Amino acid sequence: MTPVLRKWLFETLYKNRYLYRFASTVPFVGQWRVWQRLSLPRLTGHDVLELGCGLGDLLADMIEAGYNCRAVEHSPQMVAAARDTLQHRHSGEKNLVLQGPAQHLPFSATSFDTVVSTFPSEYIYDPETIAEVERVLRPGGRLIVIEGANLLPVGFLQPLLVLLQTLVYGPSAVYGPRQDRNLDEEMARNQRAKHREDKIIHSNRTTSTDTTTEIVPDAWFGQHIPLEQFGLRRRSERVRSRRWEVYIITGEKLQ
Ligand SMILES: C[S@@+](CC[C@H](N)C(=O)[O-])C[C@H]1O[C@@H](n2cnc3c(N)ncnc32)[C@H](O)[C@@H]1O
Repeated sequence: MTPVLRKWLFETLYKNRYLYRFASTVPFVGQWRVWQRLSLPRLTGHDVLELGCGLGDLLADMIEAGYNCRAVEHSPQMVAAARDTLQHRHSGEKNLVLQGPAQHLPFSATSFDTVVSTFPSEYIYDPETIAEVERVLRPGGRLIVIEGANLLPVGFLQPLLVLLQTLVYGPSAVYGPRQDRNLDEEMARNQRAKHREDKIIHSNRTTSTDTTTEIVPDAWFGQHIPLEQFGLRRRSERVRSRRWEVYIITGEKLQ
């Protein structure tokens, strides 16, 4: 698929909640929500801003978990969908979701402990967005980006879905990292690492899925999020289950 066609496809999805729900559920065998929720154990503090909240599912999760949340979403159709999600789940007021671009946040400086962004579009690579994130974060706060996820070609159905995603996102997005690296070797090397505190290996308690979380120094993912330009300290993690892997980048604002 050409970049122009892909852009058109995504813009169409962001205008239609039903298409977006379908496209973020069926081709990902229902795992999208599991991937979004990987941000929950990474939240810090009490005040949380979500960028590009889409349908508002994670926003409702965070509110239900007791966080004081706001969201900024560019698409008016998605704003309406997110507000409806909050209403249906009785989790918060509609006015918690504001329409506007992540590049111009309508909040005063040091308003939030965490800014979260799951499956962001190009806005997350825009220096104006990261400048705004740095401005609204409190010292010691963090930006959490679930940048992307890949199904692994295991079982019967997933190889077909991986093929579909290759057509939509392009082979470099789906296979790029895996062509260059042998993940099993990398895992084994990581497990032999001298400094055990450099990695985390645990079962994710927010889902019933067994996952392994690794810190990936010099990660190939998230490289284009300009964290260092605004003094945010980068940490890159890859979370793997038997069926998928997810790429998470954290940018911490130093005290
Ligand atoms: C791939 S969707 C992800 C939505 C949601 N976070 C999720 O996990 O399903 C990207 C979202 O970012 C929104 N978006 C695009 N550009 C934006 C911008 N400049 N500022 C804020 N939101 C933006 C889109 O409207 C869309 O809802």
